[in-house]
Amino acid sequence: MTDKDSLSITDNRTGKVYDLPITNGTIRAAELRQIKVHEDDFGMMAYDPAYKNTASCKSKITLIDGANGILRYRGYPIEELAEKASFLEVAYLLWYGELPTQSQLDEYVHHITYHTMVHENVREFMDAFRYDAHPMGILVGTLGALSTFYPEAKNVLDPKSREIQMIRTIAKTPTIAAFAYRHRRGLPYIYPDNDLSYAGNFLSMLFKMTEAKYTPNPVIEKALDVLFILHADHEQNCSTSAMRSVGSSRVDPYSATAAAAAALYGPLHGGANEAVVRMLQEIGDVKRIPEYVQKAKNGEFRLMGFGHRVYKNYDPRAKVIKGLAYQVFEETGKNPLIDIAVELEKIALDDEYFVSRKLYPNVDFYSGLIYQSMGLPMDIFPVLFAIGRMPGWMAQWEEMTNDEEQAIARPRQIYLGYGERHYTPIAERG
Ligand code: SDX
Repeated sequence: MTDKDSLSITDNRTGKVYDLPITNGTIRAAELRQIKVHEDDFGMMAYDPAYKNTASCKSKITLIDGANGILRYRGYPIEELAEKASFLEVAYLLWYGELPTQSQLDEYVHHITYHTMVHENVREFMDAFRYDAHPMGILVGTLGALSTFYPEAKNVLDPKSREIQMIRTIAKTPTIAAFAYRHRRGLPYIYPDNDLSYAGNFLSMLFKMTEAKYTPNPVIEKALDVLFILHADHEQNCSTSAMRSVGSSRVDPYSATAAAAAALYGPLHGGANEAVVRMLQEIGDVKRIPEYVQKAKNGEFRLMGFGHRVYKNYDPRAKVIKGLAYQVFEETGKNPLIDIAVELEKIALDDEYFVSRKLYPNVDFYSGLIYQSMGLPMDIFPVLFAIGRMPGWMAQWEEMTNDEEQAIARPRQIYLGYGERHYTPIAERG
């Protein structure tokens, strides 16, 4: 009697029938290996370029329901966390799995606050970058360099070591980000101000000039905190998959975050918020939107900030960010590009090409406009994404390290190259 929670596969090459158990709506790819024609065959594999339909892990951290535009961190809807929680409260939630009590949060914030400084050698190392080095290149290099300052981070099987590295990565990423921004501007580095909030301190390290003490604009400070929350985690996206894959070799977490940040650097991932602003600047006028929409439909270019591998509905983060933008503009003055963005969204969402492909604005469509209105240069936008995503990378790495089913990541391939052939002396090649 075949268990109903199974898949019966008939191999038409042999007529054999295989019953594969279904668990959590999936079959184990390893179960396919029993499907063979000859006993000494390697056995069947699944082919899934870019892992578009492959679950690489079991996770309890984040759920995305792409069809319904739902995003939850540890079960809490992103809209509620954005409205009611602080970023460090969410960072705590992602790592420990529960919202903190007041005393737990106070202790956590204290630890983060008192780990924001970096070794002076880090500052000197960052000084060695060219004056015009892209901040993401600086971040990737500096995160990797942190592994040389905390050699005990190699003890990845020690929970206490993993916890202190989590504190350090979340605490120090804004410092590195701000130093990279100041390096570009030829400005002296501003050291952390422990009297300020996480977002307030970041604004101080970015913008403090000759005043004795920087006072963040509370609206901008809150908006930045919410933006970090919205970016904190997102299941097995490209950069988190890099974090897990590189981390699976049991390298220290700083080296793994450098790999994750490198993945985020790509224009199809974290680089999209910068690309959106450049796209809107190129469009330049609402009257030119139809021309660009047609180019996108012709496949001549992609509407940056549109589309998503998982969301086939409106990205819930984009909704929150769109509302946040108008709050920020009250303080900074309206970013003229918002009118082009809103009109572009309206036209695209009425167009069959985008509707049929379920292409909606994603998290990057409006976030860049807020950062630009805060006076930040475009090339630092993906660095802000990395600050927000750091707790997610670390929480996913922690979960992978504790998962007894996980091992070093080592996918298979379909070999379509030459059969055996032998070396030809160079004189005989033609
Ligand atoms: C992030 O994974 C995550 O969770 C990522 C992220 C996170 O929080 O970590 O959400 C952050 O990376 C958001 C995405 C930011 N990137 C962009 O905005 C860049 C523009 N968008 C895309 O390039 C694209 O939509 C992706 C990369 C985001 C998703 O690509 P998919 O799912 O692989 O879709 P696809 O490339 O297979 O496209 C499907 C169809 C194609 O058309 P056809 O071949 O079927 O004719 O849709 C078209 C694509 O040409 N298409 C677009 C489009 N995105 C897809 N056409 C125009 N403009 C676009 N933006």
